[in-house]
Amino acid sequence: MLVDSFQRRVTYLRLSVTDRCDLRCSYCMPERMRFLPKSEVLSLEELYRLALAFIARGVTKVRLTGGEPLVRRDMIDLVRTLGRKLGHGLEELTLTTNGMQLGRYAGALAEAGVRRVNVSLDTLDRARFAALTRRDALDQVLAGIAAAKAAGLAVKLNTVALKGVNEHAIPSLIEWAHGQGHAVTLIEVMPLGEVDGDRIDHFLPLDAVHADLERRWTLAPSPASTGGPARYFDVTQTGGRLGMITPLSNNFCASCNRMRVTATGQLYPCLGGGERVDLRAALRDGTQRDVDAALDRALAIKPKRHNFAIRGPGEHPAQPRHMSVTGG
Ligand code: GTP
Ligand code: 5AD
Ligand code: SF4
Repeated sequence: MLVDSFQRRVTYLRLSVTDRCDLRCSYCMPERMRFLPKSEVLSLEELYRLALAFIARGVTKVRLTGGEPLVRRDMIDLVRTLGRKLGHGLEELTLTTNGMQLGRYAGALAEAGVRRVNVSLDTLDRARFAALTRRDALDQVLAGIAAAKAAGLAVKLNTVALKGVNEHAIPSLIEWAHGQGHAVTLIEVMPLGEVDGDRIDHFLPLDAVHADLERRWTLAPSPASTGGPARYFDVTQTGGRLGMITPLSNNFCASCNRMRVTATGQLYPCLGGGERVDLRAALRDGTQRDVDAALDRALAIKPKRHNFAIRGPGEHPAQPRHMSVTGG
């Protein structure tokens, strides 16, 4: 079992398979993002062994992330091998994707045992999507989402709520998604890594969005849980589910069940914390016992809560690492 010093049990591994991405969302990374040399990134076999080490210690849910996980060519092979652990310790294998490559891979993911995917989508407006992601690719993402649905995958959309960017279109995005049968989770923008502008300009606390949505619809708190950080509501009028992820306005650290590993094998016990443990060294040069000892060190340093707050204009973000490096 993996239990930290605050008696929180870790059952959810977020495993980044690459820091690269085929979009450049402006709240996530700068236009000229510098990616890690590929030689630094874990091999497929190392990723698999790493996931097995977590499963052996009681992790039941593995989420593959990036960057964009589906830009890694051999990614689907990892999904297939990990898929064989479903029902043998692993209960859920899933991924978070920007949807760009889902048209190509949705069928294979479903065949490998993936049941649902989280797809990032911040706007349904083509020009705004192009401005936000710096790629004119809304149609490709929508086609990817449709392919996932056709393959039988449940889709949950992740929407970062951004003041002055998509705030007024949030209700219509939710309405559209619920009409398609997709849940939506709204996310507060987090200060991770330098971007070209100031995130503070776009930070939108979700309690304000919640109040606005409640003037329109009935939001019934839902006991549903995906084992992730979102609190859920059922929207009576649309018949769909809405999640809220509020690390800044209402943090959920007390019930944290997660750890994340970067594509280079750095284990971060907290998204908002700087301390890490090098799993790659243990995987490459050590024995199973070394890997286990590394997991124990990570448990010992898992902080009580994250330390980020949105800083003022011109200030550096609380964490120099980008979300795309840590995998969220
Ligand atoms: P479900 O299994 O559907 O609950 O997924 P999830 O919300 O755990 O995963 P997803 O990859 O869709 O993440 C949604 C957002 O939650 C991303 O912006 C993540 O960075 C953020 N997130 C996930 N875990 C944590 C966490 O421990 N702390 C913080 N601050 N954010 C997190
Ligand atoms: N703050 C909040 N969410 C972010 N994401 C990427 N960078 C940030 C950030 N700085 C979101 C993506 C994706 C999810 C995994 O994280 O939009 O939906
Ligand atoms: Fe890529 Fe996701 Fe970052 Fe957008 S938010 S640039 S899709 S990793």
